[in-house]
Amino acid sequence: MTETNSKRYSGAAMVLHWLIAAGVIANWLIRETAEKAETEEAGRAIMANHFSIGITLWVLAVALLVVHFTGGKAPLASHLATWERWLARIVHTLFFVLLLVMPLGGWMAMSQYGAPISVFGIFSLPPLPVEVNPEQAKATFEQHGAAGALLLILVAVHILGTLKHMVIDKDGNLFRMLPFGEPKA
Ligand code: HEM
Ligand code: HEM
Repeated sequence: MTETNSKRYSGAAMVLHWLIAAGVIANWLIRETAEKAETEEAGRAIMANHFSIGITLWVLAVALLVVHFTGGKAPLASHLATWERWLARIVHTLFFVLLLVMPLGGWMAMSQYGAPISVFGIFSLPPLPVEVNPEQAKATFEQHGAAGALLLILVAVHILGTLKHMVIDKDGNLFRMLPFGEPKA
């Protein structure tokens, strides 16, 4: 793995990180809104945005991984305690795993319904060549929902971690992901 000695992530990593953060939060809010929709049809129309953003998140996560492994990642700050290093590594790794697996799970579930996924009405992902089985599709979406709940817990841990560094440790950790401010080594 190539890593720079920089205290900051690269510009490409920052842009991708904040797009992914916005997409994940949007997808959660869209799901919440769809659940409260008056009719099933209205809920479906709202969820179409969740599907489009979900597929886009897969592409953004692959791009961030490429940037990460080609020098865009800043090594974890040197003053972190061992437990903080491990926790950060575990949370970041699980983020990548979930961001790659969740959209594929959604595609698999839609394929088990025999339905394509329209991505912002621009193009359609055809169903994967799997057996059409609505019961199985429901179960796959349930697993996706459980993965989504885990993702949200990790987001909470991630944000609390950033807050701890900014407010208690005052080490400017957040500035590692921003083009301004002064992060500690
Ligand atoms: C909401 C969804 C979010 C996801 C999925 C996410 C994901 C990630 C990932 C995967 C990394 C590691 C990047 C890499 O190694 O290439 C990272 C780093 C980071 N994230 Fe997030 N993030 C989210 C939201 C946020 C928010 C809201 C904040 C600020 C409050 C934040 C602050 C940071 C910081 C400061 C780092 C750098 C950590 C370090 O190396 O010291 N993230 N994030
Ligand atoms: C990385 C991309 C994605 C993220 C972050 C994401 C996130 C989420 C979250 C947070 C939930 C709510 C879980 C809960 O209620 O506790 C959810 C549910 C759901 N998502 Fe996604 N999603 C993504 C991609 C997709 C895709 C590509 C599809 C479909 C093609 C999809 C379809 C659904 C459906 C149908 C549900 C409801 C599942 C259920 O509760 O039975 N998602 N997603």
